[in-house]
Amino acid sequence: MEPVKVGLLGLGTVGGGTANVLSRNAEEISRRAGRDIIITHASARDISKPRLCDTSQMKLTENPLDVVSDPDVEIIVELIGGDTLSKELVLKAIANKKHVVTANKALIAKYGNEIFSAAQKNGVMVAFEAAVAGGIPIIKALREGLAGNTIDWLAGIINGTGNFILTEMEQKQRDFADVLAEAQRLGYAEADPTFDVEGIDAAHKLTILASIAFGIPLQFDKVYCEGISKICREDVEYASELGYTIKHLGVSRRTDNGIELRVHPTLISRERLIANVNGVMNAVLVHGDAVGPTLYYGAGAGSDPTASAVVADIIDVVRVLTTDSENRVPHLAFQPSKIQDMPILAIDDIETAYYCRLTVDDRAGVLAEITRIFAEFDISIVSMVQKELHNSQDEKCSIVLITHKTIENKMNSAISQIQSLECVDGEIVKIRLEELDG
Ligand code: NDP
Ligand code: HSE
Repeated sequence: MEPVKVGLLGLGTVGGGTANVLSRNAEEISRRAGRDIIITHASARDISKPRLCDTSQMKLTENPLDVVSDPDVEIIVELIGGDTLSKELVLKAIANKKHVVTANKALIAKYGNEIFSAAQKNGVMVAFEAAVAGGIPIIKALREGLAGNTIDWLAGIINGTGNFILTEMEQKQRDFADVLAEAQRLGYAEADPTFDVEGIDAAHKLTILASIAFGIPLQFDKVYCEGISKICREDVEYASELGYTIKHLGVSRRTDNGIELRVHPTLISRERLIANVNGVMNAVLVHGDAVGPTLYYGAGAGSDPTASAVVADIIDVVRVLTTDSENRVPHLAFQPSKIQDMPILAIDDIETAYYCRLTVDDRAGVLAEITRIFAEFDISIVSMVQKELHNSQDEKCSIVLITHKTIENKMNSAISQIQSLECVDGEIVKIRLEELDG
């Protein structure tokens, strides 16, 4: 049988890794797919650059449209990134009746509804395993392995760069900027690294996970998003003394009032497995009504780990090349006609526990003033400690406290009243805390 011919858009970290894995494991891949798979045509911005992979058997071009229009190519693998040119290329490939594999979470989170609808009309597949959590096959697990469950909630460390930065800050007291530069050198970071540190990349991924978990449309614009850039070492240290670690989490939960969709730094008890996921590793915890909690762990970024997911998608596409499009696994797990719009909860309406740090006057009565306000808002405190301030000349100290679960807008109202007390100095720090205990 003729080999399946693949057109590759992008020869960077993931594109180079994909070409390497396809050639290194060609024999095993062919045994699994039932056909040989070869990259015949590839594009990059500058084809004279040295590459991670051998390109000698590929026709190279600086015009990606040449690849998308190549009549010999059956599968287009989009590894350029961004959401402008990539969208144009993917829609063109679909219109040309080519199957698409992509690692582009920004593209799927923002334009997936339109792309999947075009793919369905044209009878082609769009596979995107590598778009979430790098090498972890989380899309397949959610879409197929957990298909018998009603998913209650999921929570994940889904940005490798962010987790790498937090881990290095916590364990080696390294500077934020220095660790970020290393993540960029290692090929983990997005072209615009603010996507990693401000939580946008994690929000793209959470959009995709929630859609597949709950059968809702992709709604990136409704994700509440906070990054890690404001996390300071003091909070990392205090959290650690209290038995918690700070991780950047994407959380999506089904509630009676709608779906929670939020990305933010989160305290997690060190006893939870997910709290011990360090460096570039990612992990996604999914709770299904039948299976209970399940945890998926692996490398969240990098050349070969991401290529592992891209190549698995290529093999999946090859396996179903000849099947009738009606009988394929739906792109978003649920039949397209059964995708339901459910309300997405505003961040003010979510319920969680909180860590707070306040700088206050170190005198009698201050604690009573603070706890009185929490009590007025029916917010119950789990634990509270007083910390001496390093290098403080004035009579000030830090109060660190953890609350039981409450509604976010009650917490915000309490904090704003406490903030206006004369005894409180500087801005109160609030970090959400998740129990993740099922
Ligand atoms: P890179 O920047 O390493 O590679 C991008 C490739 O696209 C390069 O070969 C570049 O060409 C080419 N390219 C960029 N712009 C154009 C253009 N205008 N016209 C033609 N070619 C262009 O990115 P990554 O490989 O890191 O990322 C690719 C995708 O994979 C992104 O969507 C990213 O979010 C996603 N992803 C990345 C992961 C990672 O660990 N890096 C993990 C999971 C997903 P040239 O080399 O000549 O500049
Ligand atoms: N920049 C992303 C990360 C790449 O660090 O997780 C993987 O999607």
